[in-house]
Amino acid sequence: MTSSTGHPAPSRRPSVDWPTAGLSFGGDYSPEQWPWETVLEDMELMREAGVNLVTLGVFSWIVHEPRDGTFDFSWLDRVLDLLHEHGIGVDLATPTAAVPMWLHRLHPEILPQDEHGHPLAPGGRLGWCPSSPVFRHFALRIVDRLAAHVAGHPAVRMWHVSNELGGGNARCHCPVSNDRFRAWIAAKYESVDALNTAWGMAFWGNTYSSLEEVTTPSGVTAHNPGQLLDYERFSSDELLEHYRSERATILRHTPRLPVTTNFMVGLGPDVVDYPRWADEMDIVTNDHYTYGPDPRRHQELAFSGDRMRGMSGGGPWMLMEHAAGAASWHPINQPKRPGEMIRHAMAHLARGSNSVMFFQWRASRSGTEQFHSAMLPHAGRDSRIFRDISTLGAHLVALEEVRETVVVDAQVAILHDDEAGWALKSGLKPVNRPSYADTARALHDALFRRAVTADVVPPWSTLTDYRLVVVPGLFLVSDANAAAVRAYVEAGGTVLVTWFSGIVDEVNTVRTGGFPGAFRELLGVSSEEFFPLTSDERVTLDNGWLFTRWSELLRDPDPDAGVEVLASAVDGWVAGSPAITRRTVGAGTAWYLSGDLEDDSLGALVDRILEETGVERVARVSDGVEAVRRASSSASYLFLVNHTDEAAWTDATGVDLLTGAEHEGRVVLAPGGVAVLRETPAQPTPNPPLLESS
Ligand code: GAL
Repeated sequence: MTSSTGHPAPSRRPSVDWPTAGLSFGGDYSPEQWPWETVLEDMELMREAGVNLVTLGVFSWIVHEPRDGTFDFSWLDRVLDLLHEHGIGVDLATPTAAVPMWLHRLHPEILPQDEHGHPLAPGGRLGWCPSSPVFRHFALRIVDRLAAHVAGHPAVRMWHVSNELGGGNARCHCPVSNDRFRAWIAAKYESVDALNTAWGMAFWGNTYSSLEEVTTPSGVTAHNPGQLLDYERFSSDELLEHYRSERATILRHTPRLPVTTNFMVGLGPDVVDYPRWADEMDIVTNDHYTYGPDPRRHQELAFSGDRMRGMSGGGPWMLMEHAAGAASWHPINQPKRPGEMIRHAMAHLARGSNSVMFFQWRASRSGTEQFHSAMLPHAGRDSRIFRDISTLGAHLVALEEVRETVVVDAQVAILHDDEAGWALKSGLKPVNRPSYADTARALHDALFRRAVTADVVPPWSTLTDYRLVVVPGLFLVSDANAAAVRAYVEAGGTVLVTWFSGIVDEVNTVRTGGFPGAFRELLGVSSEEFFPLTSDERVTLDNGWLFTRWSELLRDPDPDAGVEVLASAVDGWVAGSPAITRRTVGAGTAWYLSGDLEDDSLGALVDRILEETGVERVARVSDGVEAVRRASSSASYLFLVNHTDEAAWTDATGVDLLTGAEHEGRVVLAPGGVAVLRETPAQPTPNPPLLESS
């Protein structure tokens, strides 16, 4: 993947035509909600703001097919022509997120059912069972007609299948879903004995006599963890199958346009298994909404961006939606702070997005999301939001050359897997309602604060070129993925495994003989008992560091295993137990962190490991500055985002593409300011990322 200069080659999806000439800028567009005069005004204002792409038709099924089997694309034609005349490309949605009311009336059986067998009410969106053949028939019929109709229209640049598949309809318990689940289980396990063993059905005497007895997990008491995990996998597979069938229909008419569906990638685990879906997308796209009250929301945004890059093979991905201001689903919805929308947009670009898109172009007056922010707010053109949107549009033009670059410098991988997160929430645990990605996020945050770029990747990724691999609370891991981590260490890598990793196998069965099961031999440690902590409990370590939330009782390591105990517990129920260990294995090093270190202690541990592994910072920065580098074979660009209310600095030299200012040696950023430096000379990347999935 590297060129002769040491920079990474662009993307592993080089054949895809990007939908716009430069970086893509725009949002969801719903002209069906407005009179034509407003649509004409939209064209002018979009042009003024620099919009070059809109997502059209997400909820327009009823417009295209007002009655069963009656199709009318005249509205669509007019909108497509207008957009084209104004130089705006279209990411055309198949309208299958928005079931027409006539279809609900004709076929109420398509509604998903909850675990009590109650159908959801019609209305809203995604009101369909992913397994319903009846829904599939109607969905593919409209997709087929739509794709046939627009084929060849120059405005249409890409396809957007449905909307956020699974966002409301991921888990269905209707009779059709039950049949499909039984068939999925029969194909996977082949015999009832194999299934009984895998799920441990002897517990509570739940043993099946026949595969015919299997149901979706909808009993009256707590469910079986293996059954729950397989149900998550099944549900994800059913929706993926739906995506595939829409995509196949589209490709019959427009074989060269990229096809995608918009993901909802945050901390995870996700509603469907996005890393396992990613290869089916021509461009991987994301909808990302920050949570206002989270004081580190910009870091959560960075985590999601680093996950997206992990799913796009290191190449560009698209930010398909984010908010220009306030959302409307939180208890209190505060707007973005001054400059925050531009900071967020720059941060997405910094982490590999080649677009900045929003939900939505014009704020709706009515309907469920009438108070959700938009690029053009209720207040209209003369507003802070629209001025900022126009500034952002100009920034994206100034940044056009960045489109040919990818993120570089990632020397750290954080392993993250939806299946591990699903397994953790399936069944009863030492701590119930644990949040799968807490430890991953805390470690990512420690790296973020040190301007160290990390790829957040699935555990089956190629690890060879990373200097450090972090395994944070990877509750479920397969034997193969655990062996790959071991091979990486033996070949010279460094791994940091944290508490509650490697606990279960792929069927959610506990690995016995000492925790952390799958990594026990690699680490040379074995823990006997978990000791979760209440919110006011702490365990002090003999170097002064503190564990919160979690501690473990580790046996003293075998003296021949070569395990160094770096810190032991001095108080709490686990007093005397080793707490943090380090072991040389082959040419590499394996660390174990057996509890949840509070932030300062975690930072100190990360400093030590970074120093030992030689992982480099992207740049020297003052506190609160996000720094990420993108590069091509001939140029490098340093993205700088000041997330503080104070002036901040970075050591770098180059020209700021946003202002034209030249900086020599030091860049001073205004409070909340951003800069994108074309560096002189271009910076070589010390360790290009190797992200291709095997
Ligand atoms: C997304 C969705 C959009 C809109 C947006 C804002 O999840 O795709 O249609 O609902 O959230 O709430």
